Amino acid sequence: MSGNEGMASQGSHAHRELRRADLPPDPIDQFLRWFDDAGAAGIALPNAMALATTGADGQPSVRHVLLRAADRRGFVFYTNRESRKGRQLDENPRAAIVFLWKVLDRQVCVTGDVRRVDDEESDAYFATRPREAQIGAWASAQSSVLRDRHELEERVAQAAARFLDAPIPRPPHWGGYRLIPDAVEFWQGRVFRLHDRFRYTRDDAERTGWRVERLSP
Ligand SMILES: Cc1cc2nc3c(=O)[nH]c(=O)nc-3n(C[C@H](O)[C@H](O)[C@H](O)COP(=O)(O)O)c2cc1C
Repeated sequence: MSGNEGMASQGSHAHRELRRADLPPDPIDQFLRWFDDAGAAGIALPNAMALATTGADGQPSVRHVLLRAADRRGFVFYTNRESRKGRQLDENPRAAIVFLWKVLDRQVCVTGDVRRVDDEESDAYFATRPREAQIGAWASAQSSVLRDRHELEERVAQAAARFLDAPIPRPPHWGGYRLIPDAVEFWQGRVFRLHDRFRYTRDDAERTGWRVERLSP
């Protein structure tokens, strides 16, 4: 599909629509189309997504993270595995993510199991990070309470001194997670709140195919 298919009238925001006939069999293909559209529309941080998790206590929490890869295997983000979200994912490896591309009037919601990205893939991604971010990953015990800003700056200085000019390895507590979708919903805003919503869900025990249903707005 070109970026403009599915729009009855290009450039007229009110007339953008999502039709069943436009939808590919696999939701990742639909996601990548919309993700490309978001990039082409010049949206800042089109890869920003809210990530919702819950721990063993059932208490939900949500925060934004950045999508770093998306393909048939799932949606990948990176973080500190000892952070609040990391601990919750240890306790309950299920999560939901949501993207909002407001100028296109589009939202994508994804739910699924979460697995750790393997060491090799996490190492490869960490190696692409700017040095300051690599030092930060060592210095910040993400989600723990700090006495003050100075404590953080001291930890950054210590980490920088430790590595000097040497290559910085990935910290053992830092790495990727992959959300493996079992439900993906595409929401296209329409006039009079008569929005288009299509939900893909796994349709078989083998988890190979997808069922697609239109939902009431
Ligand atoms: C736009 C945006 C992108 C972010 N991306 C990430 C990210 O990719 N990884 C990450 O660990 N934190 C990211 N953060 C910070 C998180 O929102 C959050 O503060 C941090 O991960 C701690 O969350 P937790 O205490 O719930 O574990 C981002 C924040 C914003 C606003």
